[in-house]
Amino acid sequence: MILVTGGAGFIGANFVLDWLAASAEPVLNLDKLTYAGNLENLAALEGDARHIFVQGDICDRALVDRLLQQYQPRALVHFAAESHVDRSIHGPGEFMRTNVEGTFTLLEAARAYWSGLSGEARDAFRFHHVSTDEVYGSLSPEAAPFTETHPYEPNSPYSASKAASDHLVRAWHHTYGLPVSTSNCSNNYGPFHFPEKLIPLVIVNALAGKALPIYGDGRQVRDWLYVGDHCAAIRRILEAGRLGETYNVGGWNEMTNLEIVHQVCALLDELRPRPDGQSYASQITHVADRPGHDRRYAIDARKIEAELGWRPAETFASGIRKTVAWYLAHEEWVRHVQSGAYREWVLRHYEGDAAAAAGTAGVAS
Ligand code: NAD
Ligand code: DAU
Repeated sequence: MILVTGGAGFIGANFVLDWLAASAEPVLNLDKLTYAGNLENLAALEGDARHIFVQGDICDRALVDRLLQQYQPRALVHFAAESHVDRSIHGPGEFMRTNVEGTFTLLEAARAYWSGLSGEARDAFRFHHVSTDEVYGSLSPEAAPFTETHPYEPNSPYSASKAASDHLVRAWHHTYGLPVSTSNCSNNYGPFHFPEKLIPLVIVNALAGKALPIYGDGRQVRDWLYVGDHCAAIRRILEAGRLGETYNVGGWNEMTNLEIVHQVCALLDELRPRPDGQSYASQITHVADRPGHDRRYAIDARKIEAELGWRPAETFASGIRKTVAWYLAHEEWVRHVQSGAYREWVLRHYEGDAAAAAGTAGVAS
């Protein structure tokens, strides 16, 4: 079996579902169920004995030791993290704890477990660390996309904590020989994406008749990748990636935030037109910029293609259509994640911008 951390979150849940759709190999899923973890994401696996869920903290060394001993996984795939940049600006402490101390705890537990293995089990063991392109910092408009050798220049508390975790993973390989690999991926989108991130926030706010908040001028560039393609890349790295290597994973799809939001609005106009006949784009509202907002990320994904034959299967047009259709078909999922805690966060974060916070964009619902 494999041990997955953070498997109730956005990418982790997609990974677990895809894994069990393609393989008989069981998954042990360790997740603390923070505000971002949601067992409803895994509802399709109810009663499936191949999915073993444990609610727990990756910082709990005794728990991680016990799980490794009890279940003897052949690989550990590490997704668990605090992942939202804006939350890291408001409160960086939890990012240091989970992303840095949590990764350290997992590495130490994995090292002790792996050291006790012998023969084939020892040779086969793998620790895969899921990281982000944000560790490389911000690119100027004309700069070449990030390669794996790009210097680390993290700019937010989130990206600094992820950079720290990447360095720990590297050091545990270099010093102790722990069999590790790391992937640095660009912005994911797709089903089960928590509606605090740009794309699901825009879909959910648009349908609710609320403002679509664009930070600053909206001309920041991200490289968007459908989540299923990210999961396929990780599976491929687990199968054939070289130990100690890092692989950049991206969609070859740079777009500005404004372009993204306009495309989502156009799809909603087509699939669920507003009763008043106006475009959802009329709900777009410019709000104060994110402090330290990185201007551009772009991934050079040639290494993983050349070495492992991975390329994204979805174009942005096909992936975003699937995503918008998924949200339209899963209104109950959206209602459930919009718990009291989530609403409080949205209000606090956008406070001072009444239109965005209270959804008073003057739009018919
Ligand atoms: P997410 O916030 O949706 O999910 C994180 C999951 O980790 C949640 O289920 C949460 O309950 C769990 N978790 C948090 N703290 C924990 C702890 N202390 N112990 C155990 N579980 C804990 O995040 P995501 O978007 O699915 O991202 C997954 C990973 O991929 C993260 O490491 C993130 O840095 C990385 N990543 C994300 C993106 C993206 O676009 N979302 C892009 C590149 C890399
Ligand atoms: O690049 C990979 C990273 O992508 C991951 O490591 C992070 O975990 C993930 O959250 C994501 O980070 P971003 O900050 O790029 O994602 P977010 O969806 O928060 O924002 C995308 C862009 O949209 C960014 O430029 C900020 C902007 N934005 C975001 C929100 C929530 C807005 O303009 N308005 C908003 O309300």
